[in-house]
Amino acid sequence: MPDDVQKEELNRLNQEIVELEKRLGGLYWVRKEKYGVVPVEFAPWLDVKLVGRARLLWHRDEIFDNVPKKSKIAEVGILKGDFSRIIFEKAEPHELHLIDNDFSHFDPGSLLNEIDKRVFIHNGDSSTVMQEIFGDNFFDVIYIDADHSYDGVSKDIRAAQRKIKPGGLLAFNDYMNWSPLESREYGVMRAVNELIVSARWPVVFFAFHDLGYHDIVVQRPPAEKPRTRIFHAWRSYWTGGRKSGRKSDLTSGF
Ligand SMILES: C[S@@+](CC[C@H](N)C(=O)[O-])C[C@H]1O[C@@H](n2cnc3c(N)ncnc32)[C@H](O)[C@@H]1O
Repeated sequence: MPDDVQKEELNRLNQEIVELEKRLGGLYWVRKEKYGVVPVEFAPWLDVKLVGRARLLWHRDEIFDNVPKKSKIAEVGILKGDFSRIIFEKAEPHELHLIDNDFSHFDPGSLLNEIDKRVFIHNGDSSTVMQEIFGDNFFDVIYIDADHSYDGVSKDIRAAQRKIKPGGLLAFNDYMNWSPLESREYGVMRAVNELIVSARWPVVFFAFHDLGYHDIVVQRPPAEKPRTRIFHAWRSYWTGGRKSGRKSDLTSGF
């Protein structure tokens, strides 16, 4: 523990850093226009149609009060396993798959007796594990919280997109561009917004965090039911051949 003199010196240094960061932050546009360097990239804007039906949650734990019980869930990025235990208690999953490339901090606690029964450990790079271990359309929910760089999250998204069932949920922790606790760029918001915009997967939940490390949950649109030839003939008769616009993608129970 630092003594009082060291604490005073640390506080002074901290204040200097805060001032420096303020000045650098204020120079964002100068840096971009004059030198072409930026400390953080903007995320694409989202279409109102893809966010307007989202529910706001006070805390990320609440996400797992709202997922179907007995489902197949993956948590990607585990650390100590604190959130794994919350997912397990709240969602009562049929299978919970825990994926991390470093389990040295993991404390299974109350999950110990469930390992290899309903809880499965996968040690390795997250996107590689998702791609290689699981079949397509396997999971009901995937919670992504591993490598927070833009490239890391984008890789996890590309893998997870195929592994989630139609109507399933893809959830992300730390939905932000910049981490105030580490003073470094996070690529989560940019990568997630790109998914929402390009795949048109709507936002279904947004959960608040007190330092801005919010969670966001998007839904893979449910599969369209196959239509019969009679339905097509009937629709064509009533619409004069025009395709009717679908009202909403959110047809499942979430
Ligand atoms: C922020 S922690 C996860 C915290 C946990 N989800 C929670 O809410 O308590 C991030 C974890 O991701 C893991 N991780 C980082 N990059 C990874 C990668 N490429 N593949 C697998 N795990 C990774 C780290 O080892 C670390 O345990």
